[in-house]
Amino acid sequence: MDFKLTEEQLMIRKAARDFAINSCLDGVIERDEKQLFPIEQVKQLADLGFLGMMVGEAYGGSGLDTISYVIAMEEISKVDASTSVCMSVNNSLVCWGLEHYGTADQKEKYLKPLAQGKLNGELYIGAFLLSEPEAGSDATSQHTNAEDKGDYYLLNGTKNWITNGSSASVYLVMAQTDHSKGSKGINTFIVEKNWPGVKVGPKENKMGIRGSDTHSISFIDVKVPKENQVGENGAGFQFAMKTLAGGRIGIAAQALGIASGAFERSVAYAKERKAFGKEIGQHQAIQFKLADMATRIEASRILCFKAAWEKDNGMDYAVSSSMAKVFASETAMWVTTEAVQVHGGYGYVKEYHVERMMRDAKITQIYEGTSEVQRIVIGRAVLK
Ligand code: CAA
Repeated sequence: MDFKLTEEQLMIRKAARDFAINSCLDGVIERDEKQLFPIEQVKQLADLGFLGMMVGEAYGGSGLDTISYVIAMEEISKVDASTSVCMSVNNSLVCWGLEHYGTADQKEKYLKPLAQGKLNGELYIGAFLLSEPEAGSDATSQHTNAEDKGDYYLLNGTKNWITNGSSASVYLVMAQTDHSKGSKGINTFIVEKNWPGVKVGPKENKMGIRGSDTHSISFIDVKVPKENQVGENGAGFQFAMKTLAGGRIGIAAQALGIASGAFERSVAYAKERKAFGKEIGQHQAIQFKLADMATRIEASRILCFKAAWEKDNGMDYAVSSSMAKVFASETAMWVTTEAVQVHGGYGYVKEYHVERMMRDAKITQIYEGTSEVQRIVIGRAVLK
């Protein structure tokens, strides 16, 4: 077992850290308050090669391992979780799915620009459309319908809480093609946002990750050419589950980063703020909080690396990614709440960042499978 990062992974960490501090920190509070999508930051992610980190170089990606992805996600999420979720969805849910299940033509046409984050000099990212008003955790209950019309499918329905909803150019859409077959009657399709019948709903007014671009998307008689079907007939639900297993590593790393960001701010504050004649870090009440934060964060990091390592080594990583996500997201919620407590009154105001981190942490327990869904995956595996 080797816990040492490679030279390449250390370089990725430095590049991600520099990007977060130099390009994300400034304006992060304003973007949160005004719900502004971090467009400049996402364009820079494209320039850094961070939007298709794990995609092979033949398809315009950076060809890096999943550990490097976890490292970059942690560093960026320490500062700006709205930017990092955009990166995570594009990498894990969109590019990974297309690279592993797409046809050669789909990879050429869609994966290349998605991995580079650009087409003809314009931002080009994707979104993953599984959730519906009545199909969140219960993801097999799809109402979005794709009717086979011969040389195309006719798509109708509504998807909810879609990250990158209005900024994405391409959607990966799961839809029911045969209701009698349940989870085996779902297909995956590539749909372009500017096709007739695609309607982007208003931006959700969220508690956290307010810069991220979350919308509902409706399809009214959208004609999807057959060549835009990804994978086999009826394999859409398995596609979603396989893709989400990797996505959950990205969100676990995001949670890890939110927790580490709040922790670093708490340590700095504990060394500076004085109460009862000494720095608050010299009081055991604060010292013990910092010790518990450091321990839980380290455990989260190890779980993230383990899931990433299993993925990179061709092993089944669905259970370890659920373990990483449930543990890291609950750690993020706990650490950020304690970080506000360590900061006292200052923690409750925006300038000190930790209140935003506490709001941002909450979504990591919900999206890409709630903590309860992760426990279903883990619980079923341990009882098998
Ligand atoms: N890999 C391959 N196949 C899988 C699988 C996996 N990891 N997990 C399940 N399947 C298969 C099962 O084997 C089963 O096939 P069989 O019928 O042949 O056995 C089929 O899929 C149905 O599976 P289940 O019977 O386990 O289905 P279920 O209804 O009990 O649901 C669940 C299981 C784990 C709760 C699942 O529905 C789930 O993960 N729900 C949460 C969905 C989710 O994470 N949504 C997030 C939305 S995306 C998002 O948030 C993106 C964003 O924008 C940030």
